[in-house]
Amino acid sequence: MLVPMKPLLDAALKGGYAVGSFNVASYEMMESIIRTAADCESPVIVSTSSAEARYLDPEVVVAAARALSHKYGTPIALHLDHGDSFEMATQCIRSGYTSVMYDGSHLSLHENIALTQQVVAAAHAVGVTVEGEIGRIQGVEDDLIVDEREASMTDVNEATRFAHETGIDALAVAIGNAHGFYKSEPTLDMARLSAIRSATDISIVLHGGTGIPAEQIKQAVTLGIAKINVASKIRRTFMNALHGALAEDPNTTEVRDVMTVGREAMMAAIKESMEMLGSIGKSSKV
Ligand code: 13P
Repeated sequence: MLVPMKPLLDAALKGGYAVGSFNVASYEMMESIIRTAADCESPVIVSTSSAEARYLDPEVVVAAARALSHKYGTPIALHLDHGDSFEMATQCIRSGYTSVMYDGSHLSLHENIALTQQVVAAAHAVGVTVEGEIGRIQGVEDDLIVDEREASMTDVNEATRFAHETGIDALAVAIGNAHGFYKSEPTLDMARLSAIRSATDISIVLHGGTGIPAEQIKQAVTLGIAKINVASKIRRTFMNALHGALAEDPNTTEVRDVMTVGREAMMAAIKESMEMLGSIGKSSKV
């Protein structure tokens, strides 16, 4: 069953853990995530970026997610990550996604509020959760590229105003996190996170989960992060496993054998993230 993202995040905030949101670009990635969630009795969010949604087709994503959720007997939230337009968000909502992010962080605060409000109106009319972003998260996420000069940390007052005026359910913040692989170990601005947490009761989302040291993730969760996005770690794990399997047998034509190696590697990486977030065994609490 596909469930809205909001109740998963509300339960996480209350329970002192975070829910992992993992990006998918293939059937194998989706199955690995849902199967691991079922094995670990962990709540989970399956996400596609706008580029991944275009590549896979939103209706196919929804049909596959529904079927896999049913097969493994575990509820999941299906989320559009970094929706790049109102049209993309509404296409995913119509197809059956249960959550959408509209990323207007490149716009002025005024424009970001206005466009996010439109997405909230369309989504909330049919019970779909909405995530917005304020501040600009550095790094590369599919076709979204933000360099150091453009990146900016989330301002606490702007975040409060943004959350209040848009009516979003979850807020993505920039507190020293970045998409992709960190050049050096990141240091999250925990004081800024605490200030945002005290100023609003909205669920807070941490993007750029790959490479943030476990202690910082755990501290961020205790300070109120309810969702953490992980993409590059799973992609790299999958690709490395495929490279390894093909290097061992370069002439193989057994797609299933190679994919099985990739799937097992991804499942271990996803479980490791769920352990860090403290979400294992929490799915019955939703
Ligand atoms: P990473 O690729 O750094 O894990 O970030 C994922 C993300 O934040 C997707 O929105």
